[in-house]
Amino acid sequence: MKTRKLSVRDLDVRGRKVFVRVDFNVPLAEGGVADDTRVRSSLPTLKLILERGGRPIIASHLGRPKGKVVPGMSLRPVALHLARLLETKIQMADDCVGDLAGKMAGGLRQGEALLLENLRFHPEEEANDPGFSRRLASLADLYVNDAFGTAHRAHASVVGITRHLPSPAAGLLMDSEIAALTRIREHPDKPYLAVLGGAKVSDKIDLILNLIDKVEAILIGGAMAYTFMKARGVPIGSSRSEDDRIDHASAILTRALNSGVRIQLPLDHVVARSPGPGQAWETTPGQAIEDGFVGLDVGPKTRALYAGEIAKARTVFWNGPVGWCEVPPYDEGTRSLARAIAATEAFSVVGGGDSIAAVNRLGLGSRFSHLSTGGGASLEFLSGVDLPGIQALAEASPEDAPPAPGTRPAGRQAAPADVDRTR
Ligand code: 3PG
Repeated sequence: MKTRKLSVRDLDVRGRKVFVRVDFNVPLAEGGVADDTRVRSSLPTLKLILERGGRPIIASHLGRPKGKVVPGMSLRPVALHLARLLETKIQMADDCVGDLAGKMAGGLRQGEALLLENLRFHPEEEANDPGFSRRLASLADLYVNDAFGTAHRAHASVVGITRHLPSPAAGLLMDSEIAALTRIREHPDKPYLAVLGGAKVSDKIDLILNLIDKVEAILIGGAMAYTFMKARGVPIGSSRSEDDRIDHASAILTRALNSGVRIQLPLDHVVARSPGPGQAWETTPGQAIEDGFVGLDVGPKTRALYAGEIAKARTVFWNGPVGWCEVPPYDEGTRSLARAIAATEAFSVVGGGDSIAAVNRLGLGSRFSHLSTGGGASLEFLSGVDLPGIQALAEASPEDAPPAPGTRPAGRQAAPADVDRTR
């Protein structure tokens, strides 16, 4: 597979309209942006294009509107937020294709940017429809992909469009993500520990299987843990589990056992009879959850065990919260995990919106080696999958494009920009 690709730094953007695919799939609350990590992460690329006289035409999806216009998933609140952060006039188009979007793109002045409406309001986006890719491409002269968080999706604005614009290039965020994650994928310092949480085993089964070949141990938390516990025959009370995935969870446990990789499940839990905020809760004495109780967070013994494991690791990759982290006190497991990882000297990467939001709420972002804007994308990348969005850039790039960030051909020293926020 080709890995070399162009960077936005290689493009001559002066006076050109640059289609910039970003991942502004951010949580919204009360009409505003609730966590703006992804918006902030796109600023270096947007600033670079503006400073060099280019005209960014910014495109993203938000949520999963399933090909229909869903007003609650409009990118309008993000446009306002972006304008404040970028201190630039951001025009907002009501659609991402069509005459009006075309006129607005054509009339863009130097120093201004245009944000297109949610790409996923059109079913053709997720279908990677060639006609739709062409319509998107017709808005611009050049293409930059800075949406690492969406690089695992073979969609029109990520893959198809690269065939219709010259010199498709990676943005600065895309490059720094690839550099930091390649370090773990290719040469992780050992012991290498993965901490996986979140709700669904089903989304992650193949990836966990792939990870088993790469790590020394996997610590599991969140709702995903209950499916694994059930697979081991441990009672889970009324906790949420994916019963149709228990066989898969068993297969993962067996594979790990045969490979000498430890899969650690929680030793205890914070549980409640009723899962609402402000309801009475308690801690289980052991691993089992009694009938009538729902598991909502990992308990104190688990937190201590996981913190001890993390302290011994030299590489830690964390993806997904280990409890119901939006609702105190069930956020304590996730918070203590964030603190434990922040305290290590290990090379540490956290991926996924909820985990990053927890890290940011604690003000610990700078203590991590890399905060990945990709949840699913970082997990897929680290499990060894070639992401279609990155592949499309490499395949469209000329043979003499610079080497991919994070790879070091003999005789070449890594430039400082190759590694993002490493300590
Ligand atoms: C994400 O939040 O992981 C990305 O924006 C991709 O979103 P998706 O899972 O809805 O494709």
